[in-house]
Amino acid sequence: MARETTLVLVKPDGMRRGLAGEILARFERRGLELRGARLLKVSKALGREHYAEHKGKPFFGDLVDFISSGPVLALAVSGESAISVVRTMMGATNPLDSAPGTIRGDFALELSENIVHGSDSKASAKRELALFFPDGLV
Ligand code: RTP
Ligand code: MG
Repeated sequence: MARETTLVLVKPDGMRRGLAGEILARFERRGLELRGARLLKVSKALGREHYAEHKGKPFFGDLVDFISSGPVLALAVSGESAISVVRTMMGATNPLDSAPGTIRGDFALELSENIVHGSDSKASAKRELALFFPDGLV
C-alpha cells in the first residue's frame, strides 16, 4: 500500500460527449486528489510516444490518429494505490467486457472509443506524467 500518482486522459470521444466533468467527479468522490489538469490537443508525435508500447501492432496507427483527433483532458490523480484504483474504476479495455458501474461499462461500447486512459503500472505512470506534465505537478 502506497500513495501513488497516475495519469488519466479523458480521450477525444469522452470530451466530445461531454463526459469530462462526470469522469473527474467520480475520481474526486472516490477520495482521489487532483494534482494537475491540462486541456490539450495531442500531437501525432506525443500520441506515438504515449502509446509507444503498442508500436508495431496493427491498430497502432488508428490509435495514434484517434488520440490526436480532438482535445483531451489530462489529469494527474493521487491517492492510496491510485494506479490500480483508477484502472478498476475505468473497467476492462473492451467496453463489451467492462462491468456496469465502471466508466467504460457505463459509457462505452467500442474498443477503439473507450472514453478514458489510465496508466497501467508505476513505470508507465512516471513516464506518462512526464510526457503530459513536463513542468511537474502542484
Ligand atoms: P489505454 O492505454 O488507452 O488506457 O487502454 P488500456 O490500457 O485499457 O488498453 P491497451 O492494451 O493499453 O490498449 C490501448 C488502446 O488501444 C486500443 N486497442 N485496440 N484493436 C485492438 O485489438 C485493440 N487493442 C487495444 C483500445 O482503444 C485501448 O484502449
Ligand atoms: Mg494502456
